[in-house]
Amino acid sequence: MTEATAATEPTEPTEPTEATEAAEATAPAITSFDHAERRIWSGKAEPYADTYARLCAHLVPALLDAAEVGPGTRVLDVGCGTGTVTAAAVVRGASVYAADTDPGMAAATRRAVPGVTPHIARLPELPYPDATFDAAVGNFVLNHVGRPRAALAELHRITRPGGRVAVTIWRSPGAPGQSLIGRAAQAAGLTRPTWLPALAPQDDFPRTPEGLAALLDTAGLLGAECSETAWEHRCDPDTWWAGAERGIGAIGQVLNSGGAEGMAAARRAYDDLCTEFRTREGLLVLPHVALLAAGTV
Ligand SMILES: C[S@@+](CC[C@H](N)C(=O)[O-])C[C@H]1O[C@@H](n2cnc3c(N)ncnc32)[C@H](O)[C@@H]1O
Repeated sequence: MTEATAATEPTEPTEPTEATEAAEATAPAITSFDHAERRIWSGKAEPYADTYARLCAHLVPALLDAAEVGPGTRVLDVGCGTGTVTAAAVVRGASVYAADTDPGMAAATRRAVPGVTPHIARLPELPYPDATFDAAVGNFVLNHVGRPRAALAELHRITRPGGRVAVTIWRSPGAPGQSLIGRAAQAAGLTRPTWLPALAPQDDFPRTPEGLAALLDTAGLLGAECSETAWEHRCDPDTWWAGAERGIGAIGQVLNSGGAEGMAAARRAYDDLCTEFRTREGLLVLPHVALLAAGTV
């Protein structure tokens, strides 16, 4: 972890044990959605770094700008994954803290960003005192938590008055590139496994600029604003497929639920559908659209 500039040091949480996980299981803050997400991300650091981390990197400069991260800013990167945001914040000269619920992800960030030792911690309950940070950011994390409003309220709590909270999520409805593998899975007759619940309706919100800004507002953030960014992600078809094939995200679980036969059928459908996005050089150009929202504590 880089040297802290403020007086209050975040408390060092311990690695989760079976006992603490059992206690979490009974805590109302942790939903069945969170448990499924935990299972999805476990062991996925390497395939994530090889595939979708590059996609999620697109909004990082804008996210750090929205959080006003610069030299000396004491910032928390929550859901740090394999360290893209943490690394970019360190380059800006910020005093960077990182946290992720998955130990493998935390370890990947530690390897990727020398000097930063991420905590293993899970939204919506982070092990930091009130007003610890100047800024808190979460890049494509809020769409993986069971209680998004509570998660934002927690980021509000740990950020000092006048500090900034900024988050990104995917927009819904999305752009055509976002549904390519889902369409292939559907064509192969694959469906969502029963252990993979959708977000509870009372916890959900519209994945639109208005919907996300309103969520920040209800979490107590002032002057909440949300913008939409569309871009084309370029990658080769095998790399794009590999992320889901290796189990990343809900779509990865859908693909793997069909066994070898289901996977092969989905891959055939995918190869057909790729023609819609393929360049002459054989790359895919995949339109995506995401939301970036920020507010002040
Ligand atoms: C899509 S990845 C984004 C990773 C990283 N922010 C990036 O930009 O590449 C989502 C990350 O959120 C983490 N995560 C999921 N639920 C979480 C929670 N409740 N609290 C903290 N981290 C969580 C996952 O372990 C994973 O590393």
